[in-house]
Amino acid sequence: VTSGQGPLLLMTPGPTRVPDRVLAAGALPMIHHRTDEFSREVGSVVSGLGPLFGTASPVLPVHATGRGGTEAAIANLFSAGDEIAACCNGKFGAMWAAHAEAYGLTVHRMATDWSQDIDADELDRLLTRHPAVRAVTVTCTDTSTGVCNDVAAVARIGRAHGALVMVDGVSAVGGTPFAFDEWGVDVAVTASQKCLMSAPGLAFVALSERAWAAHERSRLPRRYWDFSEIRRSVTAARPNTPGTPPVTVMRQVAEAIRMINDEGLDVVWARHEAMAQAVRRATARLGLSLQATGLRRFAPTVTAIAAPPGISPETIRDGLKARGILVAGGLGTFEATCFRVGHMGDIRMVDVDATMTALADILGGLGTGRPASAEPAAR
Ligand SMILES: Cc1ncc(COP(=O)(O)O)c(C=O)c1O
Repeated sequence: VTSGQGPLLLMTPGPTRVPDRVLAAGALPMIHHRTDEFSREVGSVVSGLGPLFGTASPVLPVHATGRGGTEAAIANLFSAGDEIAACCNGKFGAMWAAHAEAYGLTVHRMATDWSQDIDADELDRLLTRHPAVRAVTVTCTDTSTGVCNDVAAVARIGRAHGALVMVDGVSAVGGTPFAFDEWGVDVAVTASQKCLMSAPGLAFVALSERAWAAHERSRLPRRYWDFSEIRRSVTAARPNTPGTPPVTVMRQVAEAIRMINDEGLDVVWARHEAMAQAVRRATARLGLSLQATGLRRFAPTVTAIAAPPGISPETIRDGLKARGILVAGGLGTFEATCFRVGHMGDIRMVDVDATMTALADILGGLGTGRPASAEPAAR
């Protein structure tokens, strides 16, 4: 454990551990949000997030959590009755569909099996059958399953059919390579409390020129969410935000981006990938299965593990908690069978080792799985 340690080691897929440097940035005396000092922080967040998303466009802060960012994207880009295709292979994939329906859009759901990656041919067929579809929604790393969807492939197909490509990158951006401009993504959303190692409370949205054109045409009502107003504010000579932002969270995110740059973005991405591989290796070594059995591409930031037959995930989670480690429960379809290990943000290999060694100990005590060995479970 390197820093920011609370009573429990947060091996959760958000909120994640907030490192000391970032905690300190949030603990500074309050400053007014219309000062030069705060304006500089807004400017550094807006430009500093570009490389994490892989875009040269300004990234908009939205004063909400992640789902506020995705809902705002729907409200800003469409009109009632517009059609979209939603890739639903996880809770957060399905959430796009629910947001869109709440705003009166017609949603074509696909990839509804949570155990599988998205089948690009299925998307191609769906878009051929429904030529009026204006956008495809997808989640990059779906935190409920541990998949890393092939956003580049989805974007290629979406673009070929003239559809916008909208990506929930809430548990991905900052922890896994994301190439917004290169892949041809039109909207991507993230939030402060995951790979950005900060408190919850801020969402961030990247938009392409095509997305801005859709925004101009869109007739859905919005006010607080209005992306034009946010863009005007953050790209002003003195960058600022409409209304009062969560000042402390903005300062934390600014510091977290500086930390990521100090470590090196490529190094951060490689660290996440190495931790994910170590968790999967240890899972197999302990005789456990991943929850989503058909996946081909795995999230570098979170792993969903099936509890052994006859053992509830709560038993595993309680055992870990008794050893000072918090992991998350399963979500939705996987609630009764799964626990989720987050390895994102400030989490390091030493934390992964501690978690998987504790898991081996618990399984040994339950007389299930393979016996714990002396070597770190994750290696
Ligand atoms: C992939 C993904 N999308 C969206 C959300 C929703 O974000 P929030 O809880 O910040 O509203 C989460 C939260 O866990 C998530 O993991």
